[in-house]
Amino acid sequence: MRQDQRAPFVQALQRARLSAYAPGEFVGQESFMRAAEILDLGQRAGIAKEVSVLDLCCGVAGPGRYLTAQLGCRYLGLDYSSSALQIARNLAADLPCEFQLAQIPPLPAGPFEVVLLLETILAFADKKTLLQETARVQPTGGRFAFTLEEGQPLSAAERDQMPDADTVWLTPLSEIKRLLAEVGYELTWEEECSRSHQQMVEALLCAFQAEQQEIREQIGPLALEELLASHRLWRDWLACGRVRKFALVAEKR
Ligand SMILES: C[S@@+](CC[C@H](N)C(=O)[O-])C[C@H]1O[C@@H](n2cnc3c(N)ncnc32)[C@H](O)[C@@H]1O
Repeated sequence: MRQDQRAPFVQALQRARLSAYAPGEFVGQESFMRAAEILDLGQRAGIAKEVSVLDLCCGVAGPGRYLTAQLGCRYLGLDYSSSALQIARNLAADLPCEFQLAQIPPLPAGPFEVVLLLETILAFADKKTLLQETARVQPTGGRFAFTLEEGQPLSAAERDQMPDADTVWLTPLSEIKRLLAEVGYELTWEEECSRSHQQMVEALLCAFQAEQQEIREQIGPLALEELLASHRLWRDWLACGRVRKFALVAEKR
């Protein structure tokens, strides 16, 4: 399990994140998705009262807590960061959310009608094993809803520029579609969200730069430099089309 300390980051970035998103659009997500996009994806996946939802790599579970509060569901969030889950549990308060410390894969037995994976599929170098696992824990008709960082794999030079490059594995859309079909899913919805995420990363970068002195004091100079460097790369790559973002829903056949 990861021994990262999520609390200083969450606290240090809170004010900047709140100012970067339009009113009502920041719900604790650690990503470029707006609340409206999270809700739309949850609804398209059929999240509703009593529907069982497994949220992979939930982090502090901003999206999970938001979807549970808005749509109602039986929610289980997984993450390998115990400090992130501690924050998630505290913030979930009276919501019917459960959390489990887990290094993914494997996944718990299920079955889960909806599996979510928001803004983190890029962290999995081996996407086939991951998708085999999601398919294994879903019944026929179950939905897998996720966002994709789309593009050809990073070159050696690009990997050198990107902090934590061992968690950045881009995949072409055609490859994801092939893998989904191979493990028994049919893609039922896709939407490109590159423009929206480009605007969001630009707004976050501006907000982090404006607050950099306070952020540096809380997370240290190296972590701040890496935060700014990664956001600059995502901004540039989304702007020039090197990376595209998609929201997708696939149904288990
Ligand atoms: C960018 S955050 C996204 C959190 C959340 N999905 C959201 O959209 O706000 C990525 C999260 O994935 C978790 N993570 C990455 N790889 C993982 C793995 N193999 N198993 C479990 N958690 C993982 C990290 O600890 C982190 O909390």
